[in-house]
Amino acid sequence: MPQSNIILTGFMGTGKTTLGRLLAKRIGYEFIDSDALIEAQTGKTITELFQIQGEAAFRKLESELVEDLAQKKGLVIATGGGLVLNPKNVAALSNTGQIICLTASPEEILTRVAKAPNVRPLLQEEDPQAKIIELLHHRESVYQQFPQLSTSELSPDKLVDEILNLTNKFRLKD
Ligand code: S3P
Repeated sequence: MPQSNIILTGFMGTGKTTLGRLLAKRIGYEFIDSDALIEAQTGKTITELFQIQGEAAFRKLESELVEDLAQKKGLVIATGGGLVLNPKNVAALSNTGQIICLTASPEEILTRVAKAPNVRPLLQEEDPQAKIIELLHHRESVYQQFPQLSTSELSPDKLVDEILNLTNKFRLKD
């Protein structure tokens, strides 16, 4: 499929946005970050959307965005970590390209999200580490349906190589 999209998913703090941007630059694709696009379209931050409208309304916005993106080609898409919990979103995105799941340990995730400028409403808990472990456990089977890539050991440039290797491998199998 020419210009198939490459979709990066995985838990919060696994490097989807950072690597997605690098990958898009490397292969000359447009980069889309689902959270950033939802914020731009609504004029509200993800935190405001969760607080004012609730998680269900946010998930609806994600699905509407997926419907839109599923019409396009030549994109690298970094999804919000919960977007693939909806099987309809997975089906629509899978039709347009390959989904790769980035992973990291709970400790690394905590360190990365603590440093990040964007607030993750789901982790605003007394014990964020416990919440990360709980959510990871809950989402395990969803994330495991995709080829996985740990973002702990390699440099960003090497990780982009690995993502391209994975997408080629899975495309050849089609
Ligand atoms: C969420 C992940 C966030 C954002 C929202 C919910 C999730 O995106 O969509 O806070 O349910 O995992 P990132 O994965 O980019 O942090």
